[in-house]
Amino acid sequence: MTSTWTPSSWRDAEARHQPLWPDTAELDQAVKTLAELPPLVFAGEARNLTAQLGSVARGEAFLLQAGDCAESFDSSADSIRDKLRVILQMAIVLTYSGGIPLVKIGRIAGQFAKPRSSPTEIQGDTELPSFLGQIVNDIGFSETERRPDPQRLLTAYHRAASTLNLLRAFTRGGYADLSQVSSWNREFVASSPAGERYSQMADEIDRALRFMDACGVNASTTPALHEVDFYTSHEALLLNYEEALTRQDSLTDDWYDCSAHMLWIGERTRQLDGAHVRFLQGVGNPLGCKVGPTATPDEVLALCEALNPERNPGRLTLISRMGSDKVADTLPPLLAAVRDSGHPVVWACDPMHGNTYTAEGGRKTRHFDKVLEEIGGFFAAHRQEGTWAGGIHVELTGDSVTECVGGGDGLDEEALDQAYETMCDPRLNGRQSVDLAFRVAELLRGEN
Ligand code: PEP
Ligand code: CO
Repeated sequence: MTSTWTPSSWRDAEARHQPLWPDTAELDQAVKTLAELPPLVFAGEARNLTAQLGSVARGEAFLLQAGDCAESFDSSADSIRDKLRVILQMAIVLTYSGGIPLVKIGRIAGQFAKPRSSPTEIQGDTELPSFLGQIVNDIGFSETERRPDPQRLLTAYHRAASTLNLLRAFTRGGYADLSQVSSWNREFVASSPAGERYSQMADEIDRALRFMDACGVNASTTPALHEVDFYTSHEALLLNYEEALTRQDSLTDDWYDCSAHMLWIGERTRQLDGAHVRFLQGVGNPLGCKVGPTATPDEVLALCEALNPERNPGRLTLISRMGSDKVADTLPPLLAAVRDSGHPVVWACDPMHGNTYTAEGGRKTRHFDKVLEEIGGFFAAHRQEGTWAGGIHVELTGDSVTECVGGGDGLDEEALDQAYETMCDPRLNGRQSVDLAFRVAELLRGEN
């Protein structure tokens, strides 16, 4: 951290993808209120996550970061529970197959702001501000709904707080019990057309749990089987919001962005001299940075220097999102450059954002096979360069939506209209997500 850094230093740099707030007095008032509200996470939790990600950087653990593209203010308790449930189902499969600890981070409890390709949207003769996530405006296409409304920053805070509270309750209160999670996976395997392929692994996990139980290791003797460490993250896009939740830790005097445990910089805002890099440089949280196909080795090394000058393992996760057809060419030079520089990063694969296309009917979608193909290419690139394929970063929901095509249930483009509910990018549904975990498990067992 530079000695001149303050939570407002970003204001001296160019901040891309910020809303044009129509009323700045109203914005200032909302930000002031936000700055007086309690932090959502404790700095010590962020430090614990850095330590766990340090194990991933050393090749001793694996990362699963997953959740919504854009969370909704209207998410029901059931929907939050089901998202957690799917992540836990994926986690048990990946932990068992990798044979190493799995670090679990949700894109949840604050993933409300979205960068868009255009600041405005045109429908017919009408041009309005684009939908920038419910923390800014509403998805409906009217002047009132699309007006950036600073009150939404406060609603976002309160929604994040209640979501986080529910997650803490579920993960500490017994919902994450391993034998319970394993039985959900057995139900999935029994009902999936691809189940045959996965039944052996599901049986093995069950047998391992029964063996441990027979040895006296069960939920009543071992809290680790009953509770789970689950962290929150979102893209730190709206810098007014992030600044207001940045607090000085009373134990260390360091600054932490207490809106989530981990924050990441998006592909569109990772300019070295930009406001997002400037802001996140100064907070003590573990950070992510998306890296797309246009990133050069020099740019990536400069980001490593800027965001992790002290070379602290676990501080920085580079999230590659190349596209299934580009990953084999674009990722290896970046892996080699970072490896040779000695920067201790976590490499994670976002197989979603480079594989979006528009289906015949006009819906934005992604094909399960392309998602899997990019993950395969990511593992292959790491094998080639002798580096650790540290994890995956996926957009999913526990709900039975029809937004991505493919997967064991063979969802096709015609089915997209049945339950297309996302407010932004297409997400894997609950079954496709567990399906993906079993397929990644095969990669982890065979090749990583
Ligand atoms: C996202 O993660 O939802 C996103 C916008 O990704 P990217 O910055 O990689 O485009
Ligand atoms: Co997205």
